[in-house]
Order: sequence, then C-alpha cells, then structure tokens
Amino acid sequence: MMRLGNLQLRSNLVLAPMAGITDYPFRQLAREMGCGLTFTEMVSAEGLLRKGGSFLKIGKGEHPVSVQLFGSKPEVLAEAASIAETLGADAIDLNMGCPAKKVVKTGAGVDLMRFPEKVEGILIAMRKKVTCSLTVKIRSGWDGTQINAVEISRLAEGCGVDAITVHPRTKEQAFRGRADWNVIAMVKRAVRIPVIGNGDVNTPVLIQKMFEETGCDGVMIGRGALGNPWVFSPRLSEPPDKGTAISLEERKRMIHRHLSLIQNHYEERNLTPEIRKHLYWYTKGLPNCTVFHSKLSCLKGKEKLEQAFHSHFDSIQRREPCQ
Ligand SMILES: Cc1cc2nc3c(=O)[nH]c(=O)nc-3n(C[C@H](O)[C@H](O)[C@H](O)COP(=O)(O)O)c2cc1C
Repeated sequence: MMRLGNLQLRSNLVLAPMAGITDYPFRQLAREMGCGLTFTEMVSAEGLLRKGGSFLKIGKGEHPVSVQLFGSKPEVLAEAASIAETLGADAIDLNMGCPAKKVVKTGAGVDLMRFPEKVEGILIAMRKKVTCSLTVKIRSGWDGTQINAVEISRLAEGCGVDAITVHPRTKEQAFRGRADWNVIAMVKRAVRIPVIGNGDVNTPVLIQKMFEETGCDGVMIGRGALGNPWVFSPRLSEPPDKGTAISLEERKRMIHRHLSLIQNHYEERNLTPEIRKHLYWYTKGLPNCTVFHSKLSCLKGKEKLEQAFHSHFDSIQRREPCQ
C-alpha cells in the first residue's frame, strides 16, 4: 500500500479535493467505504491565518485526512500549513491545479505552475514548517504549449514533497476534453516518490486501467464518487454477477446515513441545498430520475426532501412511475 512520507495508507484509492463537496460527511462516508485518504476542499491559506480553527473543520477521529491549501505566498502558506497540522491534518496538500479566475489572478492554483522558482520557495518554506506529509496536486501545465508537469514534479521531489497527484489537463482545458493519462505515466517515470493519478475514473475497471496504463501508485477519484461512495469499496472490484452490485436497499441505507451526517454537520438554513445536491447524485441513472430531479428543485426542508426520496424509492421498488 502507498506510503506518503510517514503516512501509511490502507488503500491506494483516495478521494479528490472538491470545493463545496468534500465536507466532513462526504469524507466520512468515503473512508467508511475503504478510501485510503480523503482531502478537504481547497482552503485559503490567507483565510486560515485570519480566522484560524473556525475556518477549517476536521472531524473528531477523522484520520487520515489531508488539508489542501491554496495561496501564493511562501510565508503565508507555511504558517497555514503549520496551523492545519496543529488542527489534526495528517497531510498538507498544495493546490497547483485550480483554474478558477479568482484564484489564478492572485497567483495561486495552477498559476503557480508557470513560476517554478516561486513553487520552490513555497515548498521549501512549507517543508520546514510541518512534519506531517506534504504533497502537491498539479495539472499538465498552463496550456498545450507549456506542459511542464515533469519539471514541476522533479522540483517538488527535490523540495522534500512526499507525493504528487497529477490531474492531466491543462489550465486552458479546465475540465473539458479527456484527461491525458500519458502525462501521469511521464511523471511516474521521472520521480521516485509516489504518484497519484487522477482524471475520468469512476469504475473499478477504470481504476485498474489507470494503474496499468500509467504505473501510478494511487488513484484519486473526484466526480466518480458523487452519489457513489462505493467506488472506494474493495468489494466492487469483483464482477457484479458475484452479487457485488449495489442494491436499492443499500443505496437507501447510504442515503439515510449521509442525510443524518449532513444534519449533524450543517446549520438548518444550509440543509436544503446540501441534501438536494446529494439526492440528485444518488438517484442519477435510476428509473424516473428526471421527474424526481425536477421535483427536488421545488422542495425545501429536510422533511419534504426525505419524504420525496422515500416515495421515489418506494415507487421504484413497486416499479411504478414517480408521482
Ligand atoms: C465541483 C468540483 C470542485 C473541485 N474542487 C477542487 C479543489 O478544491 N481542489 C482541487 O485540487 N481540485 C478540485 N477539483 C478537481 C478535482 O479534484 C479533480 O482533479 C478533477 O475533478 C478530475 O478528477 P475526476 O475526473 O475524478 O473528477 C474540483 C472538481 C470539481 C468537479
């Protein structure tokens, strides 16, 4: 199993950082399903310095968890990394992949990949401040003419980074097109530290394919885990004809558990949007989901959403059209 510096993982599958999604409830479920490491959504290093612990919620006993930081100033990122470690992070990840305008224009996210010297200063400063694992998440490069994932990975390794995640799309691509797994293979050949491949993986078959085609040490899953925490379960690597498919009852139980975690984690006023989006993902592809999804968008409050989910599942079980 993959080892990130001092951190030994129990599975080589990891949950991707996703803003607005990888909150405590989602990370908890992924871990329960067998996920080896979960990442928080990206956290502003400046914000963490200003607001401290209230800005970053790590659950009690939530291990292992990696806190992903974004920022562009070495001293700020190093201090934020130290705060996150004190708050319980088992690993700190530097975001070098976010293509959002508001992040890039501050010199953070994928913009860092254009300035290797700046990256070096940041990583040296962060490495000095934390003893936990330090990792980076990069893209292929800025655009098709500036693919420098290998250069940045070698540099990161030289600064004492413990692992590298590669999401092989450029900043220009954002989330469009297919991830170019060749870039993951190139990085893997170039460094000795573990390389985690990421991009367009949502089934056990694709997990296996990414391991085989790139030689990567771990696979990070983002969108493929939405409404599908089972993707981390070792059970799913068995063929579905061996009784490994997810039954409707299991799906129902998972949704229940997820909703109760959400209820414990969020204030009342935030429950509706949180529940709605997860119900949407859990029911995508099920019979009559279009009707159910348009119904969801009109409902407010945990009780109403829960009722709708129950009657939807009952109607599927009775094989009746959704009311
Ligand atoms: C809604 C959303 C939010 C994301 N937020 C982050 C983030 O905070 N930090 C980060 O490094 N990547 C972020 N990503 C990128 C994912 O971590 C991942 O690299 C990308 O989705 C490709 O992997 P996938 O095909 O498994 O989804 C986000 C992606 C999505 C869809």
